[in-house]
Amino acid sequence: MSDLANKAIRFCRDLALCTEEPGRTTRTFLSPPMHEVHRVLGGWMRELGMEVSVDAAGNLRGVRAGNPAGRLVIASHLDTVPDAGAFDGILGVVLGVALVEANAEALAGWGPTIEVIGFSEEEGVRFGIPFIGSRSVAGTLDDSILTPPVLDAIRAFGSDPAGLPAARLSPETVACIEFHIEQGPVLESLGFPLGVVDSIAGQSRLNLTFRGRANHAGTTPMPLRRDALAAASEWIGFVEQRACDEPGLVATVGSIAAEPNATNVIPGLTRVSLDVRHKCDTTRHASAAEMLAAAQRICDRRGISLEWETRLDQPAVALDAHLRELLSRSVQACGYPAHRMTSGAGHDAMILAPHVPTAMLFLRSPGGISHHPDESVVAGDIEAAIQVGLEFIRNV
Ligand code: HGY
Ligand code: MN
Ligand code: MN
Repeated sequence: MSDLANKAIRFCRDLALCTEEPGRTTRTFLSPPMHEVHRVLGGWMRELGMEVSVDAAGNLRGVRAGNPAGRLVIASHLDTVPDAGAFDGILGVVLGVALVEANAEALAGWGPTIEVIGFSEEEGVRFGIPFIGSRSVAGTLDDSILTPPVLDAIRAFGSDPAGLPAARLSPETVACIEFHIEQGPVLESLGFPLGVVDSIAGQSRLNLTFRGRANHAGTTPMPLRRDALAAASEWIGFVEQRACDEPGLVATVGSIAAEPNATNVIPGLTRVSLDVRHKCDTTRHASAAEMLAAAQRICDRRGISLEWETRLDQPAVALDAHLRELLSRSVQACGYPAHRMTSGAGHDAMILAPHVPTAMLFLRSPGGISHHPDESVVAGDIEAAIQVGLEFIRNV
């Protein structure tokens, strides 16, 4: 095992300690621990002679000057979900820096200018708005995203929103690649270390509010109740069954909050989230619409009102055909099977892909687990990804 592969894993494990919540890894958009991540990763970048900066969206940017014929961006995100693992997102940034280090040795410093970007926000945990970092680089931010709380968070971090236009991709950028753990069971089930991503499933994220009437839990007969939590629970069962009935569809109610949240009070209000994904946008939209119609039917029958809002409608994205083939050849040239796959998880690559040719390489997720402290990697797969990344850089 190369020292570089072990160094990459060590960086990810060490940086997992940069957290808002002692005892578990939680690092949301521009929270204080992100400064330490920038300091540590920026320090490694500077050791390699990279020019380091933090842009107006709080993205960490490191540039290794090379052949001006074209810039290769290697990017992923530095934020995490609550109680996260040590590799989702940050592995792609660490591998970018590792490739600059390997590149310097393996290619005697020849090759394209490489820009490594650590995006400030991909998960959408802090404000319910995902992809703020990559959208600022793609130039697709708008006022629906740059709300006053988001702007205040940028200022509180020490960045200036006025500089956001300068965060956009350098015009000399010719390609982007994102390295990321698969976050699922496919590669492990096949015994493959790596996977080439052909497309990324689209995703809808919605918030629903069930509004009934709070009342006394002891004196209110069942037929007279307008129980907002019971209504939401009935609906959640429908969502799960509808997703099970549709091949390739996944739907998740990941958060729920009942008010007034007391044992002896019938919940008068319940807020839930809905996350719906499918590789076909038509299927995703139709399924989400059916789920909303079912919520309305349940509420009508129970005398409960329903409100909902769409927080994200992210289309499915096909990655660049030429770069996918180049990446496949790079994987095979290094002696590994080039398994082609669709990503069920959303990634920054889907935000960049409409604006610059973009590729994505998956690394095997042991146990198929992610968004969980047990998330891990196989050290040999890190080594494989570095070899493939160097081969890709030689030919991009
Ligand atoms: O939710 C996702 O698909 C990604 O992990 N942000
Ligand atoms: Mn994630
Ligand atoms: Mn991720």
